[in-house]
Formats: sequence, C-alpha cells, structure tokens
Amino acid sequence: MDNFDFYSPTEFVFGRDTESRCGECVARYGGSRVLIVYGGGSAVRSGLLARVGASLDAAGIVHTALGGVRPNPTDDKVREGIALCRAHGIDMLLAVGGGSVIDTAKAIAAGVPYDGDFWDFFEHKVTVSEALPVGTVLTIPAAGSEGSGNSVITNAALQKKISLRTPRALRPRFSILNPCLTFTLPAAQTAAGATDMMAHIMERYFTNTPDTAVTDALSEALLRTIAEATPQAIARPDGYAARATLMWSGTLAHNGLCGTGCEEDWASHFIEHELSAIYDVTHGAGLAVVFPAWLTWMARHHAAKTAQWARNVWGVAEGSDDTATTLAGVDRFKQWLRSVGMPVTLAELGIDRPDIALLNSRLHEHMGPTVGHYVPLTAADTEEIYRLAL
Ligand code: NZQ
Ligand code: ZN
Repeated sequence: MDNFDFYSPTEFVFGRDTESRCGECVARYGGSRVLIVYGGGSAVRSGLLARVGASLDAAGIVHTALGGVRPNPTDDKVREGIALCRAHGIDMLLAVGGGSVIDTAKAIAAGVPYDGDFWDFFEHKVTVSEALPVGTVLTIPAAGSEGSGNSVITNAALQKKISLRTPRALRPRFSILNPCLTFTLPAAQTAAGATDMMAHIMERYFTNTPDTAVTDALSEALLRTIAEATPQAIARPDGYAARATLMWSGTLAHNGLCGTGCEEDWASHFIEHELSAIYDVTHGAGLAVVFPAWLTWMARHHAAKTAQWARNVWGVAEGSDDTATTLAGVDRFKQWLRSVGMPVTLAELGIDRPDIALLNSRLHEHMGPTVGHYVPLTAADTEEIYRLAL
C-alpha cells in the first residue's frame, strides 16, 4: 500500500425527506444568499425544487435559481451562473440534480472569485485556490460528484470534455441523499448510473500497487452489491432498499475511499470522455462500451488483477490461465450490462461509423503520449481498444 492523504470531509445527510433539511445545512456552512442550480426539469416536475425552496425560506435564506443544465454540461451555462452569482451577491451554490448539475455548480463556484475566465482551471493554467462553498441534493446515483472534488465540463466550441480534479477546493460541504428522489429515474439512467459507479471502482481497483487488501475487499463487495441492486431497482423503481443501496454505493465508489493507497488507472474514463465530447453520449452508457473493450485488451497484456476481478466479482472458477479467466469475467460483465439494457458496442451506443482516428488523436492531444497507469497505453494501444469496442 502506498502512502496517502485521505481528505473527504463532505457531510452526508441520508434518508427519506432529508431535502427538508436544506435550509439547516446551508446555514450550518455559512450560506445566506444561495444560487440553486438544476437541470432540464425533472426536479421541477417532481416538486423537489419547490420543497428545497420552502426549506430555504423557512431558514431565512435568500435564493435565486439557474435551470437548464444539460447532460454533458457545457461552458456557456457556467459563465451564465458566474454572472448571476456576481449580480446577486451569492455566497453558496446549491446543486439539485445529478453529476451534470453538480459539476456546473462547482465550476461556477470556482469561477466567481477568479478574475480570469473559469476555463483556465480546466486547461490547468491555474489551480483553484478559493471557491464558493457548494451543497448538493442528489437526484441520480452515478457520477459520484456529491462526494468528489472533481468537475467535468465540456467546452462546446473546442469539443473538449475535461475533468478538473481538486482534492480539496471543490468537494461539496454537504450532500443530501434521499433515495426516494431517485424513484422517477428511467431504467436507462438507472443502469447508466450503476455502470458509471462500477467504473469508478474499477478505475481504482486495477492497480499495480501491491498489498491493497482493504481497497480490494471494499471494491469487490461494492461491485457485487451494485450488480445485485441494479436489476432490482429497474424491476421496482420505487423499491426503497435497492435505491438506497445504489445511492450510497455511488458515493462510496467515488469519494476517494476505494483508491486509498493505490495508483489509480482512469484510462477508460478518458477514452470515454472523447466519445461524450464528440458524439454527446450518456457517460455511463459510453463506459459500458469502453470498459469491456479495455478489459479485453488487458486480458491479453496484463491479466493478473483482471483475473482476480473475474473470480471475486463475477464468480469465474479458479483457473491457471489469467487470460482465459479474465475473458470469462468480461463475458459475464457484458451479459450483466445487456441484462440491464446497456449497450456494449459502439454501434449499440448509436455510433455506427465512429471516427476512430479523430477520437484517438483528440485523446492523446488532451492526455499526452500515454493514458492510464495499470498499463500506460500508447496511441496504438488505445486505437486497438476503440476498435475492440466496434
Ligand atoms: O436534467 P434533468 O431534467 O434533471 O434530467 C436528468 C438528465 O436528463 C435526469 N435525471 C436526474 N435525476 C433524475 C432524472 N430524471 C428523473 N428523475 C430523477 N430523479 O438524468 C439525466 C442525466 O443527468 P446527469 O446529471 O447528466 O447524470 P449523471 O449524474 O450521470 O452525470 C453525468 C455527468 O457527470 C460527469 C460525466 O462525465 C457527465 O458529464 N462525471 C462527473 C464526475 C465527477 N464530478 O466526479 C465523475 C464521473 O466520472 C463523470 O465523468
Ligand atoms: Zn464516471
């Protein structure tokens, strides 16, 4: 196990009706004038936004709102939010939604006290040293942004989707997690979210760092739990137990716990981000296509940990051949993905004629000559992985 700092100070308020505690949480973390950020309307239709507003009113907190954040959120909404915050003297952001909404709120929070253009942070020209505090009310377990220090924004003009990682500055102060808010999720979003959380665990689990027994055990248990709960949530959308299991799993998958003491990989995420940036696909669905391709490539090049994954997560029998064991695990993983309605090929994802040369050149333009750590992948390797996803 490597040395590590684990700093993950978000307060999680979990359970039924917890959105009624928004006002109390905002006040506890010093907010008095709040910008509520939300998406395309699901939070309005469900009445959630009105309940959040009522909780803020009851606590005497002034609030205004910015709606219309779209999935794979873009830079224009961030600039709109920064201007609004400055005009209204906002001192806290409250994101009501999923990863796209939370990431937009985080980017606004970083941009408000900064003199230049917020995109400088995403180009890594400057680091975020101060930001407005952010709270969240999560409505979809998936991206894990409710517990992460990351924000992922697409620059629409540049077709560039960039993940900004700040271990400290952008972690939400609090996140309200009410599983009942996810009852309205369509099956496809439930499954894409589950795939994303599995990917967050696997990006950390596939490591060359030795002696990672704690994180291996946590990761394997979470992966098995998500695999079991997802079809239950799809079969019965208003079943509290499965929704609660998925909600907490999604947070634990990405708040840093599963990666403590390990060198993490993240190649599959970066390979997917190019798909989202160019073809605007759902992030989790993109990962359902990319991760099996990455694993298939690994089966032939570096199979020890992937064979452990096949045995301990997917129940593949002990065998001497790690490549065969891994490939059997990939088969079971793909069967599971199909069973919850996820695509496993680029064609199934709706990209019939992917421009692999463009995807791959963008990937290495953004990430450098190699991507990932489990095996640092060259341009020739990642091109093969895009082809394995056809
Ligand atoms: O916009 P509305 O109308 O709210 O609809 C949303 C959206 O269409 C809908 N939805 C959310 N909650 C709902 C609901 N529909 C019905 N009932 C509910 N309770 O779901 C759709 C997807 O929402 P989105 O926020 O895009 O989903 P997700 O949480 O999967 O976020 C994806 C974004 O997060 C980024 C992804 O790249 C992508 O841009 N990520 C962020 C990370 C981070 N900040 O740490 C890490 C991840 O790896 C990921 O890259
Ligand atoms: Zn992800």
